[in-house]
Amino acid sequence: MLELAVAIVLFILAIPTAYAAVIGAPLVLTSKSRVREIIDKAEIKEGDKFYELGTGTGRVMVAVAKYSGAKVIGIELSPLFYLITILNLKINRVKKYELFLENFFKSDLRGADIIFCFLIPRTMVKLKEKFSKELELGAKVISFAFPIEGWVPYEIIRGGKKPSVYFYRTK
Ligand SMILES: C[S@@+](CC[C@H](N)C(=O)[O-])C[C@H]1O[C@@H](n2cnc3c(N)ncnc32)[C@H](O)[C@@H]1O
Repeated sequence: MLELAVAIVLFILAIPTAYAAVIGAPLVLTSKSRVREIIDKAEIKEGDKFYELGTGTGRVMVAVAKYSGAKVIGIELSPLFYLITILNLKINRVKKYELFLENFFKSDLRGADIIFCFLIPRTMVKLKEKFSKELELGAKVISFAFPIEGWVPYEIIRGGKKPSVYFYRTK
């Protein structure tokens, strides 16, 4: 009976996780050393609303909250990664956060000052239109590892051995 219950729970967690990997991107984490560089370059300030689309383990949200004091808002489709993100936020005593278990294609992004994504190129192409519709002029979009086709970055952290990071402003 216990085995059956465990199998059911794992199944329930695995299905949306696999779905998120297909429609958005699979789990790969932003390297810790890059997170600090991103925070500095993006000039994130206390009072900003920082959105992370696809939180994974919440590593980026936690670092941004700690080092900038901004309010962090995370959106994650996988219940497994959502739970890990909550745990990470709680362990690190992050106070100013919101976390949503939902598909970011359906989220309301109005009011975001900065959006961080580590997704894949075809997902960024789909999000581009949403960003243009919902974000205020001058909002920042940061894409880890993949440039956004058709947009011109105002800043790039060049790769070396690590992936590059692309910074954009909505126009
Ligand atoms: C490449 S990982 C990046 C994790 C984290 N942002 C980081 O940089 O360490 C992509 C994450 O996006 C999530 N994801 C993919 N598609 C999604 C969607 N449509 N809505 C919400 N989350 C999604 C995945 O479950 C995964 O956790």
